[in-house]
Amino acid sequence: MDGTGAGKRTVDALMSQTAALGVWGCGHIGASAMYHFSRQGVRCVGYDIAASRVQEIREGRFLTTDIVPTGHVREENPNVTATTNWRDMVTNQVVVHLVAVPTERGAEPSSAALEDVIPLICEVIRQSDTVGIVPAVIIESTIQPTWIDTVVLPKLLASGVHPGVAVLVGAAPRRDWFSGSEHNLENLPRIVGGSSDEATDLMVALYSLVCREIVPARDAYHAAFTKVIENLIRFQGLALGNTLSLAFPQYDMTHVLSLASTKWNIPLYHPSMGIGGHCIPLAPRYALAEGGLDNPYLGTVRDAVQLNDGYFSHLYAVRLRELLKDCRSIVILGLAYTADAKMHKLSPALDALDCLRDTPRLRLHDPYYSADDIEDICGVATLEFPRDLSDCDGIILVTPHTAYRQAGVESIVRPGTVIVDNFGAWRDRTFAPSVRYHEVGRRYLEDARDAIRYPETSSSAS
Ligand SMILES: NC(=O)c1ccc[n+]([C@@H]2O[C@H](COP(=O)([O-])OP(=O)(O)OC[C@H]3O[C@@H](n4cnc5c(N)ncnc54)[C@H](O)[C@@H]3O)[C@@H](O)[C@H]2O)c1
Repeated sequence: MDGTGAGKRTVDALMSQTAALGVWGCGHIGASAMYHFSRQGVRCVGYDIAASRVQEIREGRFLTTDIVPTGHVREENPNVTATTNWRDMVTNQVVVHLVAVPTERGAEPSSAALEDVIPLICEVIRQSDTVGIVPAVIIESTIQPTWIDTVVLPKLLASGVHPGVAVLVGAAPRRDWFSGSEHNLENLPRIVGGSSDEATDLMVALYSLVCREIVPARDAYHAAFTKVIENLIRFQGLALGNTLSLAFPQYDMTHVLSLASTKWNIPLYHPSMGIGGHCIPLAPRYALAEGGLDNPYLGTVRDAVQLNDGYFSHLYAVRLRELLKDCRSIVILGLAYTADAKMHKLSPALDALDCLRDTPRLRLHDPYYSADDIEDICGVATLEFPRDLSDCDGIILVTPHTAYRQAGVESIVRPGTVIVDNFGAWRDRTFAPSVRYHEVGRRYLEDARDAIRYPETSSSAS
């Protein structure tokens, strides 16, 4: 950036608080953007359709849970205004609009919320005095790059807000990992790409306020597609780990993959109960939508999607049902798809619930969800952990939350209980001899611990 361009003017206006940053959708992504920008002195206005979410932000609860022990983002912040009235963006002189609405419905990508907010953003731009600054619309949500052409640009044009003239457009996808504080907005390299050099320059200047490393893409399409492809690569690796474990039941595939990961260019994969979350499982669908469902080069992606769709019920049928068939009182530990976060989109815990519905007593526990949350989301009761493990004869440990990894459960789990452990969080525990412990991806029960000659590391969920 030349230091005199649009980027500098915008950043100066934000830093002097003569203009503000608007965030559309105040969930994990939108709220954490507000949190980081506001700490740099930028006035932020967050709009959300959910009054409860707005109330949480007003109370300083920037994550949708306030009990996450690490990666905690909670602060009452005078630079943040949260509202359910998008017109507040006009009175607050918003000049940069970050779009952080959901782009998925169930297991499918969906541009519906994006389609809802772009016309409102146009309305704000048209009604605002932007103090001589060309406003910007930056998509932080994960998108199919083609949506820039099919949704964003046409809706701007239809509202008379001409891209490149009356508004700068760009994509700056997010990579944050809300499970712990290791991978956050500040320390992850940030890919940004604009629909013009001016837009990219603006994004470099803007995100330099909150991110240590900015990596400019050649344009908005390539920036958006990077998110899809990096998630697709991760998906293919995880799906391959699951497939191998089913394909070679005579092998302890968790052990083989752990050994393989000692090679310098092979990441650690752990076969699991399924790939959860809204990022990784959706990536192949974005790629297939972008490349064409019948694209001859995407056969392996199509196969992986097909396998993944029915994966848990297949795993249950061929491995877990036999183990759990005599259990009358089962608890699923963990609703979240990843440790120490309150996020359960496409969690394998939900698939486990479906398969186990006929169990006479089926309960679910997660330290980040209240009894009411669990009743609403899962339709089952919870229990008191770890005390009530004593009246369970089946335990499915889905999420390796810290609370589960640290709890002393050995004396509470009663003899004869079946334990199915997704990632081996309890692999090193010494249970009563008649407890049947199975770590997903191992060959059969009894070899789960004995065959291990050196400590294996565990991989996280997705
Ligand atoms: N959470 C992650 O780990 C993560 C990581 C990278 C990218 N993403 C992507 O970021 C985007 C947002 O994800 P999130 O995790 O923040 O979702 P979220 O569900 O936590 O939050 C989305 C928020 O948007 C609000 N909303 C929905 N429709 C709206 C509308 N029309 N107008 C205004 N607000 C609306 C919802 O009420 C909710 O508060 C998605 O595209 C997601 O794929 C998420």
